[in-house]
Amino acid sequence: MSEQKQTAVVTGASSGIGRETALKLADKGFAVIAAARRMERLTALADQVEGIAPVQVDLSQPADTEKFCDYLSKLPDPVSVFVNNAGYSVRGVLEDVPIEAARRLFEVNLFALIRVTQACLPAMRRRRKGIIVNLSSIVGKFTFPGSGIYAASKHALEALTDAMRMELAPFGIKVVAIRPGPIATEFNDVATEMTGDLMARTDSDYKPIYQTAGEHTGKLFADLHIPGPELIANLIMEAVLSERPKIVYSAGPINDEFLGNRAEFDDEKFHQFMLEKFGLQDLKV
Ligand SMILES: NC(=O)c1ccc[n+]([C@@H]2O[C@H](COP(=O)([O-])OP(=O)(O)OC[C@H]3O[C@@H](n4cnc5c(N)ncnc54)[C@H](OP(=O)(O)O)[C@@H]3O)[C@@H](O)[C@H]2O)c1
Repeated sequence: MSEQKQTAVVTGASSGIGRETALKLADKGFAVIAAARRMERLTALADQVEGIAPVQVDLSQPADTEKFCDYLSKLPDPVSVFVNNAGYSVRGVLEDVPIEAARRLFEVNLFALIRVTQACLPAMRRRRKGIIVNLSSIVGKFTFPGSGIYAASKHALEALTDAMRMELAPFGIKVVAIRPGPIATEFNDVATEMTGDLMARTDSDYKPIYQTAGEHTGKLFADLHIPGPELIANLIMEAVLSERPKIVYSAGPINDEFLGNRAEFDDEKFHQFMLEKFGLQDLKV
């Protein structure tokens, strides 16, 4: 008799880290529910390997998220692996991010994540088993200038992940945070598209800040190799397949320096480090 496949859910499986993870989970014999908006991408993924079921959902729309939750809560078998991966970024200093853009981002990166996780948990708890993997970011632990809204959503996710890890441990459910650094996916293109022409609409006072921080960011990334999504998918698989996963996995070209300093420095020293890194220490406008 063949062994029943375990169910895995990956949100944001139409590209980047989610797509790689869905492929790797299917390869390991999981029955993968691959969710995102772009159904044609998901269908192509399902045609590529066995064991992937595409499901369309727009997590920015609470009614659509509810439909997906209804589907998840009626699955015949409890979910074994839940990868909360769908997410995106907008750029801009606080004054430049319209409140609707901030709300939408929190809807996708945080509120939808809360809802879909709630939908899967009753069956997972009854089974006393399973793992939830939350895609945070290095900016779950600090922020770059011009990334405050996105970083705030990932800081919130870190807190949620910490709480869930304690609340669900007695049920045998593991909860893991993944903190990628910069990874070559569609992430930056999406951020550019969501943000629009920021320099055209920003107050002139902010232009030197964007320019200076932008030049320093350029220098920071000039000699770096930006790894592809497989690096992070491999970490997710390491967590999923481990009997005792670490509570946090992190990888990326600037992770050691930035997360290392964040852990080592006090708040004041880290603030100075960031100001200098982005050339803002002596800037006056
Ligand atoms: N790439 C990086 O440098 C980086 C660094 C740190 C953390 N991360 C995090 O890693 C995760 C994956 O990002 P990625 O780099 O793989 O980016 P990506 O290639 O842009 O993939 C993002 C995924 O999220 C899905 N998504 C976005 N909005 C959605 C919505 N409204 N409803 C449903 N799905 C939605 C997209 O699918 P559709 O567009 O088809 O809906 C896509 O499959 C994100 O949580 C991101 O914050 C990325």
